[in-house]
Amino acid sequence: MKEQTLVLIKPDGLKKSLTGNILTTLSESRLEIAGAKVVKVSRRLAEKHYQHLKKKPFYEELIRYIRGELHGKKKVLVLVYYGEDAIDKVREIAGATNPEEADAESIRGKYGRITTKGIFENVIHASKNREEAEKEIKLWFKPDEIIFKLYPTEMVTRSKVKVKAWKR
Ligand code: TYD
Repeated sequence: MKEQTLVLIKPDGLKKSLTGNILTTLSESRLEIAGAKVVKVSRRLAEKHYQHLKKKPFYEELIRYIRGELHGKKKVLVLVYYGEDAIDKVREIAGATNPEEADAESIRGKYGRITTKGIFENVIHASKNREEAEKEIKLWFKPDEIIFKLYPTEMVTRSKVKVKAWKR
């Protein structure tokens, strides 16, 4: 069945100029890109993304990693891939969480490493399952930033919310 998944190219991927290689490898999946953008990750966004790991000893370092504080590259590339079995296909191409256990030809197997502090610098994030994909896509993207209608939307009025706009 067709489904969607969230991919992050993490700061180490950007720092090491791996974006092109990673996107080429992902294109082997024949999936479609439904959304893409560069994001400077706030503490709040990082904490929400890694909520499930809050109790882990490596949590603080993980937040620093995704925010680019370990690489001097404060950005990630965020993508939504859509198509048949998108979640498993991308997870397989990404490889195991631990780069030392990842298949040698997977993205994490090729480009990942374990730091001296024990963090898995595994270059890429990919949603684990449909529930996680939905949570993550809704966290990283607004409905209009994705070209397909992946989840139900509604119109809401937010009259007193200040937003930054282009100066006229
Ligand atoms: P997790 O959500 O468990 O794995 P995945 O990214 O494959 O879905 O972990 C999130 C990130 O936390 C993982 O990409 C790298 C880091 N991490 C470590 O550094 N050490 C660990 O022991 C684990 C489990 C994760």
